Amino acid sequence: MALTAAEVRRRALAPFTDKAGTFAPLKAATFALLAAPGVWLGWAYTTDNLGGFPLKALLNETGLWGIRFIVLTLAVTPLRRTLQWPKLVTLRRMIGIAAFVYSAVHLWIYVPYMAYDLGRIGSEIVLRLYLLVGTLAVLAMVPLTVTSTDMMVKRLGGARWRRLHQLVYAVGILAMLHFYLLLAKLQTPEAQILAGLLIWLLAYRLLYAWRGTMPTPWLVILSVGAAILTMAAEAAFYGISSAGRIPVSAVLGANFSLESGIRPAWVILALGLGVTLVGWVRLKISPPKERRRGPQLEAAD
Ligand code: HEM
Repeated sequence: MALTAAEVRRRALAPFTDKAGTFAPLKAATFALLAAPGVWLGWAYTTDNLGGFPLKALLNETGLWGIRFIVLTLAVTPLRRTLQWPKLVTLRRMIGIAAFVYSAVHLWIYVPYMAYDLGRIGSEIVLRLYLLVGTLAVLAMVPLTVTSTDMMVKRLGGARWRRLHQLVYAVGILAMLHFYLLLAKLQTPEAQILAGLLIWLLAYRLLYAWRGTMPTPWLVILSVGAAILTMAAEAAFYGISSAGRIPVSAVLGANFSLESGIRPAWVILALGLGVTLVGWVRLKISPPKERRRGPQLEAAD
């Protein structure tokens, strides 16, 4: 069916407007922020500003932005609920699509990176676990992206659509596993911070699905628990990657001294408690008017 000129215009302006077609500054700013790394990478690549191994830099950068945006997509619902900021939901689709685009480009760059040798690419994917789980993550994002339109929500029906979109949790776990299996990369605190955030966000879902609510004391317990798990994951990583040469006690000890900087577990604790505090203040200033919809209806949120 051919699209009318008005429909083409509406779709082209969708990242900048609300459903009524009015300019939406929050959406427009989010769109600009999501597109900025891509624009910068495109510019740096075409002007030879990506260092000695531009394709490798492009591969790593698109992967990093892919996982950052996957985690951000998962953060939308907990933030919307905790901060009582319903408008955030209008950004979720855009962030999810950006996560898919960066991850798909990351996979696509792997092809020239492997000198277009499709046979070798296939065998690498099958034989290397980190590539296999990464590929499964990208594949799982395809149905989520294809069904992200309003028309597909209507066609599938709310309950089925939400059930399908629970796949996003698997995407988060698979993508993080891909990142974690690249053991050498995890020396960067960002990997541990992203893993800690994922733990917080998935545990939030489990608790909310169980009780259908998330009172402030639970958010505090969740943040402390996620920080402890982040610390444990960091100790396990260093223990495994150094084949036991770095003892667990040394990593745990580093978390209680500033010698090796602020450790990821403290970042998770600070972020979790920060969101909890802002949510608590919002709750005191303006208690919610609308009753919660319940865990069933928000299953895939
Ligand atoms: C949702 C899917 C994926 C995400 C979020 C993702 C994310 C990442 C991240 C964060 C890195 C590390 C970048 C760095 O620290 O510099 C990375 C590296 C890499 N990824 Fe992915 N990735 C995904 C899927 C894939 C797929 C499907 C492939 C190929 C089949 C792939 C191939 C690679 C390769 C070759 C590296 C570099 C490994 C190295 O430096 O030795 N990724 N990816």
